[in-house]
Amino acid sequence: MTAYRLTLLPGDGTGPEVIEQAKKTLSVFEELGPLSFDITEIPCGGQFYLETGLEWPEGSFEHCRDDSDSIVVGAVGWPGARLPNGDVAGGQVLLGLRSALDLYANVRPVRLYRGVNHKVHGSFKDVWDHELVDMVLVRENTEGLYHSLLRRSARAAQGGEKDEPLVIERFPGLNGHVAWDARPISRRGSERVIRFAFDLAERRESRLGAPQKVTCVDKSNVTRGCRLFREVFHEVSDKFSGIETNEAYIDAFTMWLVRNPEDLDVVVLPNMFGDIATDLASVLQGGMGMAASANIGDEHMLFEPVHGSSPKHAGQNKVNPIAAISSVQLMLESLGARHQDEDANFCADILDQAISNHLSSGSPVTYDLGGNASTSEVGDSIASLCAMLLEAKGA
Ligand code: IPM
Ligand code: MN
Repeated sequence: MTAYRLTLLPGDGTGPEVIEQAKKTLSVFEELGPLSFDITEIPCGGQFYLETGLEWPEGSFEHCRDDSDSIVVGAVGWPGARLPNGDVAGGQVLLGLRSALDLYANVRPVRLYRGVNHKVHGSFKDVWDHELVDMVLVRENTEGLYHSLLRRSARAAQGGEKDEPLVIERFPGLNGHVAWDARPISRRGSERVIRFAFDLAERRESRLGAPQKVTCVDKSNVTRGCRLFREVFHEVSDKFSGIETNEAYIDAFTMWLVRNPEDLDVVVLPNMFGDIATDLASVLQGGMGMAASANIGDEHMLFEPVHGSSPKHAGQNKVNPIAAISSVQLMLESLGARHQDEDANFCADILDQAISNHLSSGSPVTYDLGGNASTSEVGDSIASLCAMLLEAKGA
């Protein structure tokens, strides 16, 4: 059994608190299960920047690139922590890795676990059934409106110049100071993330035994980049003739997402639309405390809860660690798939069951789900459920 080399980047605010809980489950899989990890923890983020003048220690990027099978981020971003050029301090860590490691698919599952209290109530039911919400949003992660910031962050992570000169253009009809962001969308960038979405739909079809639909969300009635994205969606979908497709503009999609989540299986979106839609979608699963994500490329992978560093809750042992623990669950699944490792798949299933059992059995939950448990109580409960399930399966 070779150990997986994991790099943990706990980061700012509540990031370290939730990563601590994710580590508890990893220890259970090491002590009682079949996996082994070689963990490196690296301090980083806005608070680290304020203390040291660096977003992370020298050599950290190279460690993530060359010596890590997987990376797990807590959260980056801290009030007042800005680089001289105005960019968020800590961006080099998350955005630099997304870009420099070419993590082109940002995979954000949205699933309502049985037993989760949430704050959305449709008009047809008093409460929504958990079966209605089970989808994955796949956000393009390397271009679009984030392109120039991603490239700046990637260059900084690799020790290069922070800024490249802006190309000055004239915007007819606009006078005075104009700030603008280019939004390049490429055929190659679209093709690979859309193909990823269709491959994922095929895997879900065989796992769930139910047909899966891929929905393309864009604004192709207005922007040229989205027109290309939609065109490529059609080309790729022709190659996956067994999979049903649908299309929506982002504005109408936000309404459909909330009104009819049961219609959605796999959704693919350009970068910024994916950023916004996934925060909204998290409400369907109980909020940001439940939202996990995977950033996947052909060579590297990084996992993070979708929520931020939540400065106002930091240091209170209060926030929900399930988004971080579920991100580790996605990591085990992805390691299992990438390394054809049955042990990692087995542990991914155990962790999924442990989270599900914790929530459905009425165990204590944090304030965001209507409870008053602490971060560490939830972490302990899920870790001990993992241990019980491992023992029951005779691992
Ligand atoms: C996310 C976050 C990041 C993003 C921030 C922290 C730069 O909101 O992962 O969704 O905008 O991508
Ligand atoms: Mn976001």
